[in-house]
Amino acid sequence: MTPLDTLTAIQQRRSIKSFKPDPITPDLLHQLVELTVAAPSSYNLQDWRIVLVQGESQKQALAEAAFGQPQVTQAPVTFVFAADSSSWQDEVIMAQIYQQGLDSGAWPQQTVDYFKGAIPQFMTALGPKTREYAIKDAMIAATHTALAAQALGLSSCFMNGWVEDKVKAVIGAADQPNIAIAVLLPVGYAAEPRQNPGRLPLPVNVCVDRLDNPYGS
Ligand SMILES: Cc1cc2nc3c(=O)[nH]c(=O)nc-3n(C[C@H](O)[C@H](O)[C@H](O)COP(=O)(O)O)c2cc1C
Repeated sequence: MTPLDTLTAIQQRRSIKSFKPDPITPDLLHQLVELTVAAPSSYNLQDWRIVLVQGESQKQALAEAAFGQPQVTQAPVTFVFAADSSSWQDEVIMAQIYQQGLDSGAWPQQTVDYFKGAIPQFMTALGPKTREYAIKDAMIAATHTALAAQALGLSSCFMNGWVEDKVKAVIGAADQPNIAIAVLLPVGYAAEPRQNPGRLPLPVNVCVDRLDNPYGS
């Protein structure tokens, strides 16, 4: 198929609650994963940890962690977007990030040298907010997945309805306090049509300059 353009994918995406059992081909899944990790992240840290839950027993366990929501067992794959708030402290990963920036020509040595000082300083100052910052990156990656999936003829459903400790146990992160769960995203072929439930009029939640100045009013 010809992929949808971005605007059409945004307009057509719906949260699908029922999926066909049809599998996603390995090539298509690979394409989706590549488009997912094309997402931007703070300092290009790429501190998401994405688990593709596909095995039947894993899907069952994940569904149980998600209050039995059927999307997880029906969809051929659920992307679990975890976030590692300590990724910036991983010297092997950081060396790779710096080297890629240099090799691609995107970052001159001066930029890398600056980041080597700035990143630890910024992240240390964040304190417990490092979790929130890692989750932001993972959520942006998940948004890439949802829109890329739509463009490629697939459907998805963002999911917040789960118990974090249980999801962590399923993906093998029970003993890792640095790992947070951002969102779950089952992906597959829709087994139902779903209507757009609508959006609030723009002046309700879009403003200009200040919160007390509604947009378009
Ligand atoms: C962060 C987030 C969490 C959500 N969690 C769930 C969920 O656990 N289960 C579910 O069925 N839908 C979930 N939804 C889907 C929303 O209900 C849906 O996005 C909303 O009703 C708008 O519909 P649309 O996505 O089709 O535009 C979630 C959506 C978002 C963005």
